This record gives sequence, C-alpha cells and structure tokens, in this order.
Amino acid sequence: PTGELRDLLGRPLRDLRISVTDRCNFRCSYCMPKEVFGKDYPYLPHSALLRFEEITRLARLFLAHGVRKIRLTGGEPLLRKGLEELIAQLAALRTADGRAPELTLTTNGALLARKAEILKDAGLDRLTVSLDALDDAVFRRMNDVDFPVAEVLAGIAAAQQAGFTRIKVNMVVKRGTNDQQILPMARHFRGSGVTLRFIEYMDVGNSNGWRMDEVLPSAEVLARLRTELPLVPLPPSAPGETAERWGYADAQGRHDPTLGEIGLISSVTRAFCRDCNRARLSTEGQLFLCLFAHEGWDLRSLLRSGADDVTIAAAIAAIWQGRSERYSELRSTLPAAPAQGARRVEMSYIGG
Ligand code: GTP
Ligand code: 5AD
Ligand code: SF4
Ligand code: SF4
Repeated sequence: PTGELRDLLGRPLRDLRISVTDRCNFRCSYCMPKEVFGKDYPYLPHSALLRFEEITRLARLFLAHGVRKIRLTGGEPLLRKGLEELIAQLAALRTADGRAPELTLTTNGALLARKAEILKDAGLDRLTVSLDALDDAVFRRMNDVDFPVAEVLAGIAAAQQAGFTRIKVNMVVKRGTNDQQILPMARHFRGSGVTLRFIEYMDVGNSNGWRMDEVLPSAEVLARLRTELPLVPLPPSAPGETAERWGYADAQGRHDPTLGEIGLISSVTRAFCRDCNRARLSTEGQLFLCLFAHEGWDLRSLLRSGADDVTIAAAIAAIWQGRSERYSELRSTLPAAPAQGARRVEMSYIGG
C-alpha cells in the first residue's frame, strides 16, 4: 500500500466510480436514447457482471492505493438487486490511513422513495440525484419514459427523511430543451439543504448526437442565475472537484450558508482534467482511466484467473502509473467525431 500512486501527469488516485448495472429505467436522450437502447439492446448477461464479492475485493485494493471516495453508478444503480448488501460490504472497508471511505451513489431517483432508508441503514453516506427539470411536461419528455417529476421529488424528500444530508441534484442543461428550467430549479432548491449542480451537456458515448450549439456554457448559466439571485463564489472543497461552487448572499452581500449552494460543472468549456483523480470500474470489471476512453483494462479476467491480491494490486498500480488521459482538455484539438472503429464507451456502461 503506497497511498502515493501518481499517474504520468502527477495525479493521485482518489476517487473510484463503480458501475453496478448497464441498465436504466429512463431513456434520457443525452445518455440512452430510445433509438439505440431499444427492446433488442444487448445488455450484459448476469454472468458478465462483477459479483459483489469481486467488487468489494477490488475496492479494497483501490483503497490501499489511495482511494478515499467510492461512488456507485449505473445505468441506474438502484436497479441492481440487493445493492444494500454491496453497500454494507464497502462500508466495512478502510482507506490506506485507516478511515472509512466516503460512500456515495448517483441515481435518477425513481426508486428512491422506496429505498432511501435501506440505503442509509446499509451505510451509504451521500446521495446525488439526477433531475433535469421541475416542470412535469419537460421532465417527462427528457426521461422519455413519461416518468413524473413528483416521484423524484418524493424520493429526495424520503432521502432527507431517512437522514441523508449533503444531497446533490445534477441537472444536465441542454439549450432549447430545458434551459428555461434553470431559474425555477434554482428557486426551488435554494434553502432546501440540497446543492443544485448544472452540468454542461457532454459529447460522451456515440449515441446522443451531441452538437456544440446545444451546450449552454456555465458562464451563461451563471449570468442567468445572477439576473435574480445574489451569488458569491466559494473556494473548492477538494482538489480535482468537478464543480465550481457558488453560495447565496444575504441582503448585506455576505455569504449565507443556510441558503445552500450551487455548482457549475463545465466539462466542455473549462476542462478539469488537470486534477482528475477518478478511476472508473465498469459493470463487467473493466478499468477505465477516462470518461471518454475507447477501451478499458480487463480486471475481471485477472480476478477470475485466480490471481492473488498482490498481483492484482500491482496490475492496478501499473495501469494508473501509465495514465496520461485528459480528453476534455484536448477536445478542441480533436476531430469532432471519433474515427470509424474507434468507438467510445457509453456513459450508461461506464457510469458518468
Ligand atoms: P461529488 O462527489 O459530489 O463531487 O460528485 P461528482 O461530481 O464527482 O460526481 P457526479 O456523478 O455527480 O458527476 C457530476 C457530473 O460530472 C456528471 O455529468 C459526470 O459525468 C461529470 N463528471 C464526473 N466526473 C467527470 C470526469 O472525470 N470528467 C468529465 N468530463 N466529467 C465528469
Ligand atoms: N452530458 C452531461 N452529463 C451527463 N449525464 C449523463 N449523460 C450526460 C451527458 N451526455 C449525467 C447524468 C448524471 C451524471 C452521472 O451524468 O445526468 O447526473
Ligand atoms: Fe438513466 Fe441516468 Fe442515463 Fe438518464 S442519465 S438514461 S437516468 S443512466
Ligand atoms: Fe478526467 Fe477524462 Fe474527465 Fe478529463 S475528460 S476530467 S481526464 S475523466
């Protein structure tokens, strides 16, 4: 256990994002458009998924290498049966310096009202809920399965009831689709104890038909918020953080922490690769070094070949030490569409 693992750009390994399923009950057009993810889509068979014991074993080795935060993602992670057992296993692990890892999860919230308490009891520390609009019609159109916004809001309320604090809401902003919802969302969550984060629509995967003119730059989101809400910049709370933080000011212009905060995730207009300390483990145990990678490193084969912990830990170290990925920084210098045969991994597979 080194705790001091660095990649080729000097970046430590701190954050492990684990995808627990490639399935989702929503069909957001920017992630799993219906035309691509239809009835016949070849999802992974059960035998291909990492079992909980396999995930926990890998997580333990990643923690020894310096990881402090583990995020469960999907697809929709709450669709994975018995997820609370995995959470309990992960909660029992320790970081290299002997602390409990920070355990969190990104969900669309559809099943949250039912599961919030079970998740809390299992040892989950934090929650992030994706929510793209407050207006029911806009939201139903964006999730594309006619799911009502009231049920996601009920899920968030249930999570607060269950004792989750520091809940975050992620809103992917698409110009012309939900940008009219920026102010209503901000008004709704101001003072609610929930941090609302606006995410620039990204060119991730191969399916969403991304176009730059549908990206609403964070600078513009901020300008629109400031027409009505008094915002003050806040310092980063951790190195390599995805979001730029803003707080609300009181009538005297001083920061009032009771009103909560806003985050701007500018993955397109202001890349944050410089400090990117995130590794991603796919549903079937491939290790990805970047959200925009074309391929991963097959840890499942290694696990299932009977390799011991020392061997697997050494493999993980070598992979991280060879990392130089920084796609978002290079985006503007690369061709707009990935070359034929060079398909990127889908977001629903790698887990945002
Ligand atoms: P916190 O622990 O709450 O800070 O979470 P997070 O921001 O790391 O994770 P979350 O799942 O909430 O991600 C928010 C948005 O940022 C999603 O759209 C992610 O896809 C995007 N994002 C997260 N990590 C990266 C990254 O390494 N690169 C890029 N380009 N986008 C990322
Ligand atoms: N661009 C930006 N964010 C996206 N997400 C999914 N697809 C995209 C995209 N193309 C978001 C989800 C979730 C987070 C993990 O990633 O809404 O909040
Ligand atoms: Fe599902 Fe989240 Fe993708 Fe929407 S963004 S389709 S909720 S995984
Ligand atoms: Fe990290 Fe890749 Fe995202 Fe850059 S584009 S922040 S390297 S995951």
